[in-house]
Amino acid sequence: MTVLVTGGAGYIGSHTVRALVAQGRDVVVLDSLELGHKSRVGNVPFVEGNISDAKIIDKVCRKFEVSEVIHFAAYKAVGESMEQPLRYYNNNVAGTIALVRALMANGVEKIVFSSSAAVYGNPDHVPVTEDAPLRPESVYAETKAIVEKFLSSCESIGLRSVSLRYFNAAGASADATIGEDWSMSQNLVPLVMKALLGFSGPLNVFGNDYPTPDGTCTRDYIHVEDLAAAHIKALDYLNGGGKTLACNVGTGIATSVLEVISIAEQVSGQKVPHIISSRRAGDPVSVFADPTLARALLGWKANHDLRDIIGSAWKWHSSSAK
Ligand code: WQD
Repeated sequence: MTVLVTGGAGYIGSHTVRALVAQGRDVVVLDSLELGHKSRVGNVPFVEGNISDAKIIDKVCRKFEVSEVIHFAAYKAVGESMEQPLRYYNNNVAGTIALVRALMANGVEKIVFSSSAAVYGNPDHVPVTEDAPLRPESVYAETKAIVEKFLSSCESIGLRSVSLRYFNAAGASADATIGEDWSMSQNLVPLVMKALLGFSGPLNVFGNDYPTPDGTCTRDYIHVEDLAAAHIKALDYLNGGGKTLACNVGTGIATSVLEVISIAEQVSGQKVPHIISSRRAGDPVSVFADPTLARALLGWKANHDLRDIIGSAWKWHSSSAK
C-alpha cells in the first residue's frame, strides 16, 4: 500500500518523502515541477503532473495501489497571492477539489493536508490554540483555510483528513543533501543565509520597535525534519481510525528576529550584515504555537531546537549556494 505525496519535490515534501522511505513505506511522488526540483526525489517513483489532472491521479492510484495521500502541492508566496488571486484559488482550492474527487473515485479516503498557521492571521492570544478564530490575511492563507473546511466537510462522505498548521518551517536535512531553495523564498532564515554568504545586501530587519524583549517580532521556527515527522504521525493517526482534525505543528517557543541573527552568527562564525528598517505591513508582533493537541492526538512533538535549525540551514546553504 503506497503513500502518494503531491508536491513531493518541494522543500517540506522532499524531506517528508525521505522520512517515509526511511521508515520503509512505499511512496510515489506527483509534482508539476513548477516549483519543485526532481533532484530532491532521488530514486523514489516519480510522476510529473498536476493535481487537477484526474487521468493522472487515476493512473497513479491504480498503478501504485495508493492507500493514502500527503498533499503538499500548492502555491505559497504570500505577497504573490495578493496579486494573483485567480491563479492561487485555481491551483490551491480548485486543484485540491479535483484531486480529492479523483482520489475518492479510486477509494482513497485518507489525506494529510499541508496547512499553515497563516490561517490565524494576527491572533488575539499567544500561544495560539486550534480553537482560535481563523482570520486569514492573505489570499494564500484564505486558500489554506478554505481547503481545511472543504476537507472537513468531506468527512460526511467518508474522507478523513489531518490538516497540519505549520508555523515557520526552516532548516535542512542533517546531511545537507536537500534543503530550501532560497530563490523561491522571502522567509527570514534563507534571507539571513543569503546576507551571510554575500548573495544579497544587508538583511532588512523589519522593525525593532515592537513590544517584545528586543523589539523585533517573534515567531515559532520549526525544523523541516520535525515537520516531516509530524506528517508520518498524522498518517499513523488516520490509519488508527482517527477522525478529521486540524492541529498546530510548532515548537511552542517564540524566537525573535535578532535571536535568529545571533544564532546564525554563532553557527557561522560570521557577522550577519543587517540594517534596521521600517516595519513590514501586516506583520503580527508575535505568533507561536500551543502544540498540545499534536502531542496528545498524534503523539508528536518537535525535537530540534533553534541551533539545530539554523545550523542545518547554514550547512545546506553554505555548501550549495550558487
Ligand atoms: C518571519 C519574521 C518578519 C524577512 C510566513 C508566511 C509563510 C508561512 C509561515 C507557510 C517576521 C521578519 C523577514 C526579512 C525580517 N509558511 N523578517 N526581514 O512573516 O511569519 O510568515 O509564515 O505557510 O511562509 O506566512 O515569515 O519568514 O516572512 O518572517 O525582519 O527580510 O522575520 O518581520 O517577523 P512570516 P517570514
